[in-house]
Amino acid sequence: MSPPIPQDYIDDLLARSDLVALVGARVELRRSGHEYIGRCPFHEERTPSFTVSPQKGFYHCFGCGAHGSALGFLMAFERLEFPEAVRRLAEMTGAPPPPGGAVASPKYQPLYDLLDEAASLYRRALADSPLALAYLRRRGVRGETTARYALGYAPAAGALGPLLTDTGPRLHLLEEAGLIRRRGRETVDLFRHRLLFPIRDTRGRTVGFGGRALDPDQKPKYLNSPEGLLFHKGRLLYGEHEARLAARQAGPLIVVEGYMDVLALAQAGFDPVVACLGTALTDIQAERLFRIDPRVVFCFDGDEAGRRAAGRSLEKLLPLYRPEWRPAYLELPEGEDPDTLLAGESAEGFARRLESALPLSDFFFVHLERRCGPLTTIEARARYASEARRLLANVRDPVFRDLLGQELGKKIGLTRPAPSSGPRPTARPGRPPAPDAMRRLLHLLVHHPELAGELPQEDELASWTFRGTEFLKLLRRLLREQEDPPTTSEILSHFPPGGREHTFLNRLAAQETLLPPDSVRLEIRATVELLRRRHSRAAKSPR
Ligand code: UTP
Ligand code: MN
Repeated sequence: MSPPIPQDYIDDLLARSDLVALVGARVELRRSGHEYIGRCPFHEERTPSFTVSPQKGFYHCFGCGAHGSALGFLMAFERLEFPEAVRRLAEMTGAPPPPGGAVASPKYQPLYDLLDEAASLYRRALADSPLALAYLRRRGVRGETTARYALGYAPAAGALGPLLTDTGPRLHLLEEAGLIRRRGRETVDLFRHRLLFPIRDTRGRTVGFGGRALDPDQKPKYLNSPEGLLFHKGRLLYGEHEARLAARQAGPLIVVEGYMDVLALAQAGFDPVVACLGTALTDIQAERLFRIDPRVVFCFDGDEAGRRAAGRSLEKLLPLYRPEWRPAYLELPEGEDPDTLLAGESAEGFARRLESALPLSDFFFVHLERRCGPLTTIEARARYASEARRLLANVRDPVFRDLLGQELGKKIGLTRPAPSSGPRPTARPGRPPAPDAMRRLLHLLVHHPELAGELPQEDELASWTFRGTEFLKLLRRLLREQEDPPTTSEILSHFPPGGREHTFLNRLAAQETLLPPDSVRLEIRATVELLRRRHSRAAKSPR
């Protein structure tokens, strides 16, 4: 909508900004040589692997790969969109505001203003309607929730009267926003006798409404503003603005189907929570969700429609999946949605449910089985495998695709996983060729230097001939000779920047291991074992 912000403005802004002060105000940093180091705010960790380089103007996390400039940091930490982050940084550094009206789009300002006025008229009408207030009370919505979500009421006779006094541009704007229709000289309100949920964009500007019928025979049950200049369902998340305003909570982010579910969860203390406005999840929404919190729990209704929506969202996420994302699925008992469930059970009960949510990878197989039936016949397995391959082919993240492919192999009882139709062949489970095993070992060690004790002794390593053995020996010595296990970035500091080792380590450090911490030790042992066996086999067979 708004013109792009010129690059030289951004460059200037970044040059003015003090990255260490910006990050340091939000993350505890200590100085380490030319850099600063602290615990990464973007993933959970105990040993610091988050570094800030004032010289380069970048932060980098060796644990999760988070990386960026002052602007990137603001976007990630404060969950801001780019133009908003630019504006904030400009304010902080005292730079002039971005040129070209990159933030306020004056063209639409009258429409925003009008929607805001409408929202406050609806809000006032709610306060004046004992009937609508009684409805909210019956549904257990408390006053503070009504205020937080700025709920309103559209009386049967309409609430927009004060805006209808002129016939000129405002009337046209109301029509543009879909709030009224004109019939000759008469106007008809879109929302009549409905409870209204204002839908706000990330910056808190009202862009549309959802209206719930108050009488059982009123159809449809929910009526939404029509798509228009400002209202794009596929780009909005109901409750996002409110979620951003809330204090940074422990998360995860919960995604539900309905307006009432958002209210019920937020009211029970589950924050942040958003809803997808009754449409299938879009790419834009998916990206936004994980920016609010990398842990996202999809919690749709316990009915056929809810399960279908969950399946569709899974198929949407698979291709987009990135290692730092942690999507999970919580299925609810038949006939329940979060709102009805919380009416009957305590918040603790729901919190326990949340803990049992299935990670995306597990839900992938649940979804497949649901589509293909139990794996009791060869036909069912064949269906399952081909459906799985169709879905896997779109997975962009190669490690995730391989891991799912390996698991698939186990599920359908193949000795080898079904070859994925993607460009990369999958490794056989647990038996990567030696160079891969060596790389895997180095990778695990870089992320878990404290496990160096699992490595073979120096004299055993001396006989190994795999590529990478020299490097492993070096790393082992480095790790074993220190009292405290060094951090990832301390390991890096032993190698000259720009050198081969440094580059290689850096790359390993930036990749997630995708293993839960308590299985890393086992994985290291298994990989060492594998290399041992390869070594003794190679030693026996004459060349
Ligand atoms: P539900 O039918 O599950 O409604 O639709 P609900 O959230 O449980 O609502 P209550 O508890 O009966 O009041 C879920 C969501 O789908 C969209 C709305 O966003 C709704 O919150 N929807 C539903 C519509 O847009 N139109 C409809 O007619 C129905
Ligand atoms: Mn529902």
